Amino acid sequence: MCDRPRRLLAIVLVTSLLSFAAAASSSSNATDFETLLCLKLHLSSSPNSRLGSWVQNNSIPFCSWPGVTCNASRVVALDLENSSLDGRIPSCISNLTLLSRIHFPGNLLSSHIPAQLWQLSRLSYLNLSSNSLTGSIPNTLSSTSLQVIDLGNNKLSGDIPESLGTLRNLSVLRLARNSLTGSIPLSLGSSSSNSLVSVILANNSLTGPIPSALAHSSSLQVLNLVRNNLDGEIPPALFNSTSLQRLALGWNNFSGSIPAVVPNFNSPLQALILSVNTLAGTIPPTLGNFSSLRILLLAANSFKGSIPVSIAKIPNLQELDISYNLLSGTVPVPIFNMSSVTYLSLAVNSFIGELPFDIGYTLPSIQTFILQQNKGWRKNPCIASQRNQFPVH
Ligand SMILES: *[C@@H]1O[C@H](CO)[C@@H](O)[C@H](O)[C@H]1NC(C)=O
Ligand SMILES: *[C@@H]1O[C@H](CO)[C@@H](O)[C@H](O)[C@H]1NC(C)=O
Ligand SMILES: *[C@@H]1O[C@H](CO)[C@@H](O)[C@H](O)[C@H]1NC(C)=O
Ligand SMILES: *[C@@H]1O[C@H](CO)[C@@H](O)[C@H](O)[C@H]1NC(C)=O
Ligand SMILES: *[C@@H]1O[C@H](CO)[C@@H](O)[C@H](O)[C@H]1NC(C)=O
Ligand SMILES: *[C@@H]1O[C@H](CO)[C@@H](O)[C@H](O)[C@H]1NC(C)=O
Ligand SMILES: *[C@@H]1O[C@H](CO)[C@@H](O)[C@H](O)[C@H]1NC(C)=O
Ligand SMILES: *[C@@H]1O[C@H](CO)[C@@H](O)[C@H](O)[C@H]1NC(C)=O
Ligand SMILES: *[C@@H]1O[C@H](CO)[C@@H](O)[C@H](O)[C@H]1NC(C)=O
Ligand SMILES: *[C@@H]1O[C@H](CO)[C@@H](O)[C@H](O)[C@H]1NC(C)=O
Ligand SMILES: *[C@@H]1O[C@H](CO)[C@@H](O)[C@H](O)[C@H]1NC(C)=O
Ligand SMILES: *[C@@H]1O[C@H](CO)[C@@H](O)[C@H](O)[C@H]1NC(C)=O
Repeated sequence: MCDRPRRLLAIVLVTSLLSFAAAASSSSNATDFETLLCLKLHLSSSPNSRLGSWVQNNSIPFCSWPGVTCNASRVVALDLENSSLDGRIPSCISNLTLLSRIHFPGNLLSSHIPAQLWQLSRLSYLNLSSNSLTGSIPNTLSSTSLQVIDLGNNKLSGDIPESLGTLRNLSVLRLARNSLTGSIPLSLGSSSSNSLVSVILANNSLTGPIPSALAHSSSLQVLNLVRNNLDGEIPPALFNSTSLQRLALGWNNFSGSIPAVVPNFNSPLQALILSVNTLAGTIPPTLGNFSSLRILLLAANSFKGSIPVSIAKIPNLQELDISYNLLSGTVPVPIFNMSSVTYLSLAVNSFIGELPFDIGYTLPSIQTFILQQNKGWRKNPCIASQRNQFPVH
């Protein structure tokens, strides 16, 4: 008898909790609906816009609208590649609180990236590449779930925010083809979670050195910094990496010499691109220990001395360009005896000597072979007659 009111109270509590939960969820999906209409209002001035088909119709719930993915009636992903979106991404997008994926590449989005975008705490994938976004990258990051950020091929300027380096789960960072300035954040790669796999910052106006944390990252597979104004020496740790597969530092102002590091064990490095810098010294024989190399481009630096014969021992080397340097002496015969080489340029150095007469057989895969402007290659009659077999540019 006595416990009756208590039970009643409990029932009242439970039902009110249930109705509160229902209200919360329905108000949330109503907010998602309102927010999609807000996005449509701001991003679809073009008659071709894919958002033209986002119309209020009770028989087509918003979760079925093109490009919208829901989980339990809540919007979790927006996939609108090449969808003729234009205008400025509105700040109301931060009201899609469960959004984890934004894929808007290949549109005409312009103006700034709203700082509110970084408030989406579930956001793990952001791809706004190939738009016309301007201004700087907002530095008020609180979406710590971010794993992929691709803002490549826009018109962004200003610095790369230091806060990007604090994202513990960041795996892919692509900011190539913008007008970014300043230096690479010192924090990039410093996160202890070792999630960073690919960093592509090519074709910007970045200055300063490669930060130590980035060079020491033990998860990094791709580092592409070509065509910037970076300088300083190349950190030896990059040559000691057990993860790095592609290191592209060409068209910068790196100085010093190539670190003479013998890789720990089988280095996975497949491409080393150092062309067009102010590197000097000799080409270290230790490069021959990078047995996975397929592409080795060292052109237009100030390397002197001879070509190390160890390079010829790289089993699957396909492209070797050491043109426009100060190299001298005779080219070791094994360099002309690499079965997988398709591109070989020794042009504009001070090599002397004679080409092996059977070169057409010992370079069976060659497609491009450039020798011009060396000190004195003795003419070899066989070369002239074999011109059509391997084009001499
Ligand atoms: C909100 O979710 C409920 C089910 O949880 C669904 O019946 C309703 O249609 C949704 N609202 C909209 C606007 O889609
Ligand atoms: C809603 O969608 C249904 C099914 O596609 C269509 O028949 C109907 O004309 C639409 N109503 C409006 C108002 O667009
Ligand atoms: C959908 O949401 C539920 C909980 O809200 C979660 O457990 C589930 O993993 C989600 N499904 C997907 C495919 O994201
Ligand atoms: C988007 O457009 C680009 C350039 O025209 C094209 O390469 C790409 O395949 C298109 N993507 C899709 C999903 O249609
Ligand atoms: C988010 O939604 C709330 C409630 O619907 C609204 O008051 C607010 O203006 C929205 N925020 C933005 C940035 O649009
Ligand atoms: C971003 O989208 C473009 C176009 O689909 C794609 O090529 C690119 O790989 C995407 N970026 C990432 C990091 O996945
Ligand atoms: C980072 O990734 C891990 C493993 O996938 C996950 O458990 C964790 O929740 C993520 N952290 C954030 C902030 O999203
Ligand atoms: C950088 O620009 C060059 C020249 O325009 C281009 O060949 C290269 O693909 C670009 N690289 C990236 C990663 O955008
Ligand atoms: C290369 O790695 C080894 C072991 O990880 C370390 O002892 C050595 O100092 C490193 N060398 C360079 C140049 O970073
Ligand atoms: C490149 O670096 C050298 C010093 O190492 C400096 O004198 C020169 O001005 C730099 N060049 C450019 C184009 O920044
Ligand atoms: C490096 O290459 C040289 C010459 O090819 C070889 O003698 C040496 O054993 C190699 N070292 C390692 C650690 O692979
Ligand atoms: C070229 O290499 C092959 C196999 O590596 C070897 O048998 C041959 O003697 C070499 N020829 C010359 C001219 O060095």
